[in-house]
Amino acid sequence: MLPTTPTGIARAGELLRAGKLVAFPTETVYGLGGDATDDRAVAAIFAAKGRPQFNPLIAHLPDLAAAQSWALFDERALELAHQFWPGPLTMVLPRPANSALSLLVSAGLDSVAIRVPGHPVAQALLRAAGRPIAAPSANRSGAVSPTTPHHVLESLGDRVDAVVTGGKCAVGLESTVIDLTGPEPVVLRPGAVLPEEMERLIGPVRMSAGDPTAPKAPGQLESHYAPNAAVRLNAKSAEEGEALLTFGPDRFVFGGTARLNLSPQGDLNEAAANLFSHLRQLDQSGAPRIAVMAIPDEGLGVAINDRLRRAAAPRG
Ligand code: TXA
Ligand code: MG
Repeated sequence: MLPTTPTGIARAGELLRAGKLVAFPTETVYGLGGDATDDRAVAAIFAAKGRPQFNPLIAHLPDLAAAQSWALFDERALELAHQFWPGPLTMVLPRPANSALSLLVSAGLDSVAIRVPGHPVAQALLRAAGRPIAAPSANRSGAVSPTTPHHVLESLGDRVDAVVTGGKCAVGLESTVIDLTGPEPVVLRPGAVLPEEMERLIGPVRMSAGDPTAPKAPGQLESHYAPNAAVRLNAKSAEEGEALLTFGPDRFVFGGTARLNLSPQGDLNEAAANLFSHLRQLDQSGAPRIAVMAIPDEGLGVAINDRLRRAAAPRG
């Protein structure tokens, strides 16, 4: 437990910069924070939450100027930022080309969700960290979002390196998420910032059908990265023309050109950290199909296999 003193905040910032996980208060709910530019830290967030899927995460920044280094803001995004930041609003925006942000934060998508929280402790911590902090709600998957440090300890106590204590969250409900990557703004998750407040600034805003956090069947997932190449699972070897994605010690001979290993040591955390960048690289090799070796279906392997199954599912 770290107090919200300058020493406590500085320590929490150091831990984040070292790739550790730190839970911290925002005005909505407590977040489970990790360095959003560090694939391994982001993979550790998914492992700690025990989430069976890689949902894209929100990158938190202390102000608009800092946020502009990590996402592309159009006129609408700037209007909303000026009005509602810092505050309980998250905007999904295009990622700049060659962004240093972890691809796992975006679940492989070309977009990124950005939030500038208003809570003074979150503000101080983000400044101390000096980099974007990925933070889903600080609870185990399926549990309710935590609004006190006590909730965080109950849910994640043994899986987080530190909790910055900041009392009870004022809003108590997750931030509004608005998607601005298309011509029509779409509210993906309702929250304290209301659609009609945003409409006054940027015109008509549509409510997304369905709950974006609800599990969806493969193929329905418009918001997930799919490689152009076909994907073949549980491969024992690569066939003519296939690119190859392996896991664990490389045991078989490969004659093709594109081969990448998710984790030669067979470490699922490392594999999760590499998943999206490796898939992209193999896709860019131009191979019509990617053969993927079996990945153990335990721990983070469950989320990795979920993602791979979606990539391998027939496209509609
Ligand atoms: O209030 C909050 O937003 C809290 C605090 C800690 O900031 N965070 C939070 O994170 O609720 P999380 O991971 O539980 O919810 C993030 C939501 C999910 O519904 C996710 O699908 C959506 O944001 N999201 C994130 N990135 C996205 C993207 N690139 N495209 C579409 N949706 C995205
Ligand atoms: Mg959540």
